[in-house]
Amino acid sequence: MGKVLSVAEAVNALLDGQILGLPTETVYGLGADATNESAVAQVFKAKNRPRFDPLIVHVPTLAAVRDIAELSEAAEQLFLAFSPGPLTVVLPKKNTIPDLVTSGHSTVAVRIPAHPVMLEVLHSSGLYIAAPSANPFGFASPTTAQHVLDQLGNLISGVVDGGPCSVGIESTIVDMSSGVPKVLRLGGMALEQLERVLGPIATQLSSSNPNAPGMLTSHYNPGIPVQLFENREALLAALQLVDADTIGILYWGETITHGTGFNLSERRSDTEAATNLFKGLRVLGNTQVAQIFAHLLPENGLGRAVNDRLQRAANK
Ligand code: TXA
Ligand code: MG
Repeated sequence: MGKVLSVAEAVNALLDGQILGLPTETVYGLGADATNESAVAQVFKAKNRPRFDPLIVHVPTLAAVRDIAELSEAAEQLFLAFSPGPLTVVLPKKNTIPDLVTSGHSTVAVRIPAHPVMLEVLHSSGLYIAAPSANPFGFASPTTAQHVLDQLGNLISGVVDGGPCSVGIESTIVDMSSGVPKVLRLGGMALEQLERVLGPIATQLSSSNPNAPGMLTSHYNPGIPVQLFENREALLAALQLVDADTIGILYWGETITHGTGFNLSERRSDTEAATNLFKGLRVLGNTQVAQIFAHLLPENGLGRAVNDRLQRAANK
């Protein structure tokens, strides 16, 4: 229990119906054979995740996507343009995938991940792998194997260590199950990139959207209150009015020397900030500070997804 597994050990464990941590380029997943209902049930249980919140199915190829979902022309274009990569596509489901995985919905969320270790597990097992992020429900997603062991170690067979996740934030979810594409979750694939293929695209990120029940307004809980500011200047002004020693600061740009800081990206890169975001929330959450001050990023590229996660982390 709770140990680091080789790819061969992971493949055997999955074929045996066990659940384990697996690296992807976005965040670590808690994987199970998607066609094995008792394995999938263990995933919901280990995460303490409500059964109404469906799981993403990870597959290695476009042929495998076709095996589990109805692939429209437009959806195929999306996969050809962006997969493998940090993109999940919601499609009408086929019967290959049990209803437990999709919480009874007539659609399935499918992703071809880009991490070489995850692809190796998919190819050599021949399985389709259902995997939510490998964190207890409501907490920040893990971006290292150690995070997985820290949070779920005694509930799973182990974790395959694929190094720190390069993207660091979950996949962007696009619903292609009806005629009109809709973004259900902002994530590691920038909206601007999707729009180059799909044209202007609607977003439906509301917490109350029954089609993406995982998108609760309160999520990514670091264990202490998070206060959000519009930008770095507003954060610095607020810092003047409090005892800075009690504050953890999540920011980007030149080093801030008050309080306990975590710099998401000194060079103000939205992709670097995304990579570091969950680590920053964890690091500051594990210090003695009483609360976290964080500032929003400009609303473009992956800045949108970072802001979305910060807003959810700040909501109690
Ligand atoms: O990057 C990622 O997507 C990571 C890695 C491990 O692949 N996975 C991940 O899974 O973030 P999870 O379970 O934490 O988030 C999946 C989201 C949930 O918000 C869920 O509600 C939504 O996907 N989802 C799953 N199936 C869906 C469906 N059929 N229709 C709409 N939303 C769906
Ligand atoms: Mg999650």
